[in-house]
Amino acid sequence: MDSHDVQADLKHVLYTKEQIQSRVAELAAQIDADYEGRDVLLVGVLKGAVMVMADLSRALHSHVTMDWMAVSSYGSGTQSSGVVRILKDLETDLMGKHVLIVEDIIDSGLTLSWLKANLISRGPATVEICTLLRKPEAAKVEIDVKYVGYEIPSEFVVGYGLDFAEKYRNLDFIGTLAPHIYE
Ligand code: XMP
Ligand code: MG
Repeated sequence: MDSHDVQADLKHVLYTKEQIQSRVAELAAQIDADYEGRDVLLVGVLKGAVMVMADLSRALHSHVTMDWMAVSSYGSGTQSSGVVRILKDLETDLMGKHVLIVEDIIDSGLTLSWLKANLISRGPATVEICTLLRKPEAAKVEIDVKYVGYEIPSEFVVGYGLDFAEKYRNLDFIGTLAPHIYE
């Protein structure tokens, strides 16, 4: 184990713990109002959505159940291709359910547009998407995202579930990395 402080790896804080908590509470209030007491199946996309799922689900007053999917998108280099492989599938039958996909971040949107179509093919009543963050690149893909926490610039962010080489997921805020970490 190296002993350096995680904070030293960060350039700046984009959203504090308090800001995230209050924005997640606003999203939850909106979701509660929209679903009007209907049961909601929250589908978290591993691993990044773990923190959003934990906080959003606790802020909701609706009856919810939770399930998880893990997907990997094939692509050359860092570019997501939209060709997706399921690493871990849901355990829940979606037939007739109100499904809300919970994501940490939408970048190109290719993964999510594939995922939404895949879930729709399983016969749910509705499928909507909630993401904490969305980058401008996502605008290029025809995908309707009903709940967005924050629109952010095309900068690589970490924390609150988001990683760089699997690190920083445990931070309770969202920040950008110092260049010396990835250069
Ligand atoms: P799409 O298909 O929308 O894929 O391009 C979105 C996925 O890309 C990853 N991603 C990030 N992960 N910080 C991260 O830690 C970022 O700034 C970032 N931008 C994209 C992430 O896995 C997301 O699910
Ligand atoms: Mg993700």
